[in-house]
Amino acid sequence: MATEVRLNSDGVYDRRAELKSFDDTKAGVKGLADAKLIHIPRIFVQRQLELEHDRASEPLGSSPRVPVVDFGGVGRSRSRSSPGERKRTVDVVREACETWGFFQAVNHGVPAALMEEMVEGVRRFHEQDLEAKREWYSRDYGSRKVLYNSNFDLYQAPSANWRDSLTCVLAPRSPDPQELPAVCRDVIIEYKDRILELAATIFELLSEALGLNPSYLKNIHCGEGLFFIGHYYPACPEPDLTLGTSDHTDSSFITILLQDQIGGLQVCHQNQWIDVTPIPGALVINLGDMMQLISNDKFISVSHRVLAKNIGPRISVACFVRQHLPPENTSRLYGPIKELLSEENPPIYREITVKDLVTRYFAKGLDGVSALEHFKQ
Ligand code: OGA
Ligand code: NI
Repeated sequence: MATEVRLNSDGVYDRRAELKSFDDTKAGVKGLADAKLIHIPRIFVQRQLELEHDRASEPLGSSPRVPVVDFGGVGRSRSRSSPGERKRTVDVVREACETWGFFQAVNHGVPAALMEEMVEGVRRFHEQDLEAKREWYSRDYGSRKVLYNSNFDLYQAPSANWRDSLTCVLAPRSPDPQELPAVCRDVIIEYKDRILELAATIFELLSEALGLNPSYLKNIHCGEGLFFIGHYYPACPEPDLTLGTSDHTDSSFITILLQDQIGGLQVCHQNQWIDVTPIPGALVINLGDMMQLISNDKFISVSHRVLAKNIGPRISVACFVRQHLPPENTSRLYGPIKELLSEENPPIYREITVKDLVTRYFAKGLDGVSALEHFKQ
């Protein structure tokens, strides 16, 4: 059924009908992968990838590597580091935030066993009985705190991605455990607490890296919201024709990403796609559009994507540190931080709420265009 090309009454390919019939299965991309298709449905095909493959040539010499930051000594539960050590860490973080918008954190204090259990929890959710999983299938982000679907932007994006996702709003209001899927309830709650602690440490380092008081970003409430996304990328029969996640930047202040060992995440650096190679025990930290906006472009929110692969499933957990849609507190305005502005560095953006940015993402989907452009002065 899914491979059959739908034609409308004029004999023209009916993309909308094909999207709808895929959506109506509520089985996601996993449902297609389980059906052992040989060809992916046309809604997933990304034309520009074929061009990219044609043009691809091996990069000369070795590619640059995403910076790795050792958090040993700067975490909350550790004995305080020496001032020299802290300054060195802040310097590495600043450099990473100005040039990559990405780094990998090691010795960050989130236990490796908890990270493994979190990946397994997401696996259990996506691999549970289809009838039980279908109960969670929805696109109603406004009224449901916890839901699952395939491609949040299925009807908006130029092409669909080879990915299903479970999303939960975890902070500022912690969900009632009963609201979470039983197969991953306990681990989500424990993981959330550790991620919020780590986020607090990262905001201190980022504040210092911006030359501000260490509690500056905490005081403007950057670290209070948490939006959790448990991604599931099944093995894909034609990985060169589609993507796991299209090029995009994140709508968060920061994102704390846990990826398994399969790989496929890439970041755009100096006009090249660079692999974010999995490091056992590490967490990938990247800055989102809200951070680029408040830092007035000193820190950058950089495009990244996930390749589709013929092995899998690949599992990742993205924690977007930001508030979500109403009824959470989304009326707070954020603009470029006054202390960073001067005559030579005037504000690039106007003041917006997190809701303004999130709404824009939902309206346009992952279309490769920066959402921030829209909020320039
Ligand atoms: C995201 C994201 C990367 C991954 O959720 O925004 O970029 O590895 N995820 O799943
Ligand atoms: Ni992302």
